[in-house]
Amino acid sequence: MLLLTRRETEIPSSEITPKETYEAFELNRRQLMKGLGAAGVAMALTRKARAELKIDDLVATRYTAPDRATTPEQMAKSYNNFYEFGEEKSDPAKNAHTLVTYPWNVKVEGLVAKPRTFEFGELFHLQPMQQRVYRFRCVEAWSMVIPWDGFPLSELIKLVEPLPKAKFVQFLSLENRKEEILPYGIPWPYSEGLRMDEAMNPLTLLTFGSYGETLANQQGAPVRVIVPWKYGFKSPKSIVKIKFVEHMPPTTWNELAPNEYGFYSNVNPQVDHPRWSQAHERLLNAYTLFPKVVPTLMFNGYGDQVASMYAGMNLRKDF
Ligand code: MTE
Repeated sequence: MLLLTRRETEIPSSEITPKETYEAFELNRRQLMKGLGAAGVAMALTRKARAELKIDDLVATRYTAPDRATTPEQMAKSYNNFYEFGEEKSDPAKNAHTLVTYPWNVKVEGLVAKPRTFEFGELFHLQPMQQRVYRFRCVEAWSMVIPWDGFPLSELIKLVEPLPKAKFVQFLSLENRKEEILPYGIPWPYSEGLRMDEAMNPLTLLTFGSYGETLANQQGAPVRVIVPWKYGFKSPKSIVKIKFVEHMPPTTWNELAPNEYGFYSNVNPQVDHPRWSQAHERLLNAYTLFPKVVPTLMFNGYGDQVASMYAGMNLRKDF
């Protein structure tokens, strides 16, 4: 049902990792797994080790897409939404150093034949890394272009074998302060969700890094999801649980303001947010006082790969 366009599938030969590099990565990975065992791999990826790890060295495939300049790395890592670490865009970069990312487990549960808890090291080494340069459109009408490193979430999903009844996937972020309410009354933990076909779409990336390095804490270390045709809030950070469910799961923003944030939240220039237009966006890809404003693209420019999933749906109603 899902068609990949030539632009996404055809990778210039200059961007394909040479066979020897890939083989070296595979050998490295296998030796690491063999020598240390899964628990050992997790141990090897201590917070310090992870910070020093260059994902770039592990990337087997690179996909480029947007026709826009890439956002400078420092900009992407200092202008964040991560309400567990503050309300202002500059807060997460200042405060997220308190996020403890080791040890880290991701529990996969619910309607699956093979529920499983992954130690971070196991998850990290499950599949060869891919680098995918994506447009990232925030609901607040700004956008960036970021090279993310990870592998399709579908690879993890296939492994746990969802049951036919599983129709949606819910993601839960780390909950580290039980009593406190987050800015805007956001309850713990941050929750997001996708329909099963959206979660299985090859563009949906289980993300471990950006710009060839492991995720900075403020970006949602050690693992988050990126769904490039949806508004940025659909990309849950610092995930600890992935749950397969029959019914549409409750999600943070949809629960807080259902008239403003729909479950689907596909980027759509024709459906305005009740308080502002979604027709244009500020391009945050250069240090300038007056960022360029460009028209927003339907499905954030990924229509060829995703529009068929919504055929027959009323996207004004199911926004
Ligand atoms: N995930 C968690 N756990 N907590 C959050 O506050 N914010 C969301 C999303 N994921 C958020 C989250 C929002 S509103 C956006 S726009 C993106 O993360 C921001 O990701 P970025 O900081 O990498 O730009």
